[in-house]
Amino acid sequence: MALVNMKDLLRQAEAGSYAVGCFSAANMECIRGVIQAAEDCRAPVILQVAEIRLPYSPLPLIGPMMLAAARQASVPVAVHLDHGKTMECLREALELGFTSVMCDGSDLPIDQNVAMARETVRLASRTGAAVEAEVGRVGRGEDGAELKEQIASFEDCLRMDETGIDALAVGIGNAHGLYTAEPQLRYDVLEEIRGRVRAALVMHGGTGLTDEQFRRVIRLGMRKINIATDIFMAQAGACRGTDIFQNISASVEAVRNTTARYIKLFGSEGKA
Ligand code: 13P
Repeated sequence: MALVNMKDLLRQAEAGSYAVGCFSAANMECIRGVIQAAEDCRAPVILQVAEIRLPYSPLPLIGPMMLAAARQASVPVAVHLDHGKTMECLREALELGFTSVMCDGSDLPIDQNVAMARETVRLASRTGAAVEAEVGRVGRGEDGAELKEQIASFEDCLRMDETGIDALAVGIGNAHGLYTAEPQLRYDVLEEIRGRVRAALVMHGGTGLTDEQFRRVIRLGMRKINIATDIFMAQAGACRGTDIFQNISASVEAVRNTTARYIKLFGSEGKA
């Protein structure tokens, strides 16, 4: 039984000054690859699926599979809904037993974003699940939709923190998907908010950042780092032939290797 609450993983990451990797899962191979890497590295890990991906991986199917994989794992695994945009989806994930949900109101005016976070905190208190929200905006949608990134303001970070959320994704010039040029991350924003918000800081848009950028944001307090595109590309690249079973094995192995590299980089190896 290694399904755990994300709050505990983030608290331990803060105490140990490392980040927990949060990996997006589109199918069973992906789930298995992430868990195997976490077990190989004796690392805590977060498995997530985003609302925008549910047309491909329906929540009533992938959700229970993620939860079952977490329960069977020999390391602590939190199961998280990424970029929950609707209260229906947030509610469904909580009812399934997800131990964390993200309510993404980053494209709403700040008052509405705060109201959405408050409502999600209220709903999640019934199961004790953790809640993540976003301020500023991570550029480009999870599905590749064009969105301009916005840098989080200090005031908005404080307002969001007061809602009682456990994790705060901050826009610091990061974007989902592949970067077309090296991102200019605003480390000064992290320096300003570090130690002044209760919520653990979250970095979206991990794919394409350099090792040095990862190390620096972790030094500045990022405790959860999301990786999606690199996992999806590793899987797709591994499926070459027409033998489905070979493709399944190759796909699990590709995700396992990709995930392990990030776990080591984030400093969470050996922390389970
Ligand atoms: P990447 O696709 O850039 O790795 O971003 C993942 C992410 O932030 C999911 O929320």
